[in-house]
Amino acid sequence: MRSILQFCSVAALVAGLLLSAHPLLAGSDPHLEKSWCDTDGRPINAHGGGVLFYRGVYYWYGEAKSGRTYLPDCNKSWGGTRVDLTGISCYSSTHLVDWKNEGLVLHATPDDPQSDLYPGRVLERPKVIYNRTTRKFVMWLHVDTADYAAARCGVAVSDQPGGPYKYLGSFRPDAGCWPVNATAADKIPGAKNVLERDFKTGQMARDLTVFVDDDDKAYLFYSSEENLTMHVSLLTDDYLHTSGKYARIFVGRSMEAPAVFKHGGKYYFVGSGCTAWAPNAARSAVANSPFGPWTELGNPCVGPDATNTFHAQSTFVLPVQSSPEMYIFMADRWKQWDLPASSYLWLPVEFKTNGTFQIPLVKFMNTATSL
Ligand code: DGJ
Repeated sequence: MRSILQFCSVAALVAGLLLSAHPLLAGSDPHLEKSWCDTDGRPINAHGGGVLFYRGVYYWYGEAKSGRTYLPDCNKSWGGTRVDLTGISCYSSTHLVDWKNEGLVLHATPDDPQSDLYPGRVLERPKVIYNRTTRKFVMWLHVDTADYAAARCGVAVSDQPGGPYKYLGSFRPDAGCWPVNATAADKIPGAKNVLERDFKTGQMARDLTVFVDDDDKAYLFYSSEENLTMHVSLLTDDYLHTSGKYARIFVGRSMEAPAVFKHGGKYYFVGSGCTAWAPNAARSAVANSPFGPWTELGNPCVGPDATNTFHAQSTFVLPVQSSPEMYIFMADRWKQWDLPASSYLWLPVEFKTNGTFQIPLVKFMNTATSL
């Protein structure tokens, strides 16, 4: 079995995907899960990623993770591991199976300790959307300090999907604005809630995703309020900023790793609970509008180890262009003590007749060559 994984033809790549989806292999030998290689034969390095389809090509953007994994700093409130930030990677493919490395499209800036892109900072979950009016490719990122206290979102922009992306800076969304569904109690000055605490400076933003609707309106979904509640913000028409119109969703449900997609006129959500790099049960929900109300549908995963999302955490749901009924659930299998060794799990989203969906642990990429 190992020999199959040592070369990276399409066939071996498919085999690698099957293996990384197999429950018996989860966590057994990390090297087996490194088998998804790019067209140069190197392991794909695009974690917490998302995919943009543009003019016949899929672009997969992700966190380029390399180097040493630092252990938790016990003096800080946050106790996870981290690597130095190197940048955002991009891979391209016409078939979703073989991926060409397009290099780093956003680079760390080791010479500027004040920069969001300094190696000692955090840059996670890049998602790129295309603005048909400005013809710009806009990247949204979770930007943070090493202790995850800054909780900001960042924006970068490019004229081409394959970059380079110009970093525009970071901010906390919707400063000075109340969400459309804020209650009178939320707004009382000095009220003991995070929403009111952060009203003037902008709301916290950690794990995030962006979603573009059929009418070209774009929405930013992000974990806010100390990760207790998610927010969804309408972006400005140029997609470069939040507009001030936003809603609180999944109030008090402590969700992160959001992924949003649309099918049959309905909006669907997949995410996770908040357990740092450790996997937990996926969450899902459906709504008639990005602003909600969202109805939770429970854990969509079915099969062995469904209770921890097959040892993975959601990052994106990818609509397959050639098959309007086909969506791919993209997830990360984090290796929290060796983050660059983290791997990927891609599975199909299966819609049910009652309007819900499931994510089964199947030999999904059997069909990859026909995508
Ligand atoms: C879980 C998030 O989903 C990841 O993107 C990352 O921020 C880790 N937490 C850090 O512990």
